Amino acid sequence: MFLVKLGGSVITDKTQYKRFNSEVVRRLCQEIKDSGQMVLIVHGAGSFGHVLAHDHRLAEGQEAGGSPEAIAKVSLDVRELNSMVVSALIEAGIPAVSIPPGACFMMSDGQLRSPDLEVMRRYMELGIVPVSFGDVVLDERKGFGICSGDQLMEVLADAFHPDRVVFVSDIDGLFDRDPKKDCHAQLIDRVDRESLDRISCEINVKDVTGGVHGKMESMLRLCRGQRDCVLVNGLAEGRLLSLLQGEDVTCTVARKD
Ligand code: IPE
Repeated sequence: MFLVKLGGSVITDKTQYKRFNSEVVRRLCQEIKDSGQMVLIVHGAGSFGHVLAHDHRLAEGQEAGGSPEAIAKVSLDVRELNSMVVSALIEAGIPAVSIPPGACFMMSDGQLRSPDLEVMRRYMELGIVPVSFGDVVLDERKGFGICSGDQLMEVLADAFHPDRVVFVSDIDGLFDRDPKKDCHAQLIDRVDRESLDRISCEINVKDVTGGVHGKMESMLRLCRGQRDCVLVNGLAEGRLLSLLQGEDVTCTVARKD
């Protein structure tokens, strides 16, 4: 079984509030279907979550003053996105159901509090694909907070022991320099703890890799035993399909050692 996160950067246009990349999502769902693999899916919130969550400082909880109206609106927006993703999966022939974290789980100071995953397990036994997503979630200490898709990935990987964990994003992987600023930047196809630390020392992480570096950190946490964790570009047609079929593709693989 593959645990797949469709990142907000690939399923939405992150620069424009609530802009859904319907064609890309439709194609990615078809690639998942064509691979014939059993999957468990998480997706990010992209511009359906981050824009308002940031404006209202929802990740900081009640003390930062996030209003009930803002919580309700972000919650509604990410469910709208989730409906479109689930619809695209069903249209591709994948029976999928929505599992909204805000309705099923609680957090404690930003960490998911031992979520009950029995419902997801039962759906999978029936051959139905659970689809969860980054959401606003109640927090017993902070009132509420943001549960990211990456946090869900860590919890789900621990619970369901997928053969492979895949992050689908809008970049080819981790580069040694910023590929947008430096045409000699090289893709790093394999990353372990040591090489990630080395890259962080050699370059200004904030400038160069930004979110990618943080993603690599959480990817390394997801590696267990033989299981590796892959970052792949979902904007490149057919790449996710090839990866799910076990072919070598352009990507960055995180390995424990
Ligand atoms: C964010 O989820 C959730 C909200 C802002 C409500 P993610 O952090 O997983 O979303 P992306 O993939 O970065 O867009």
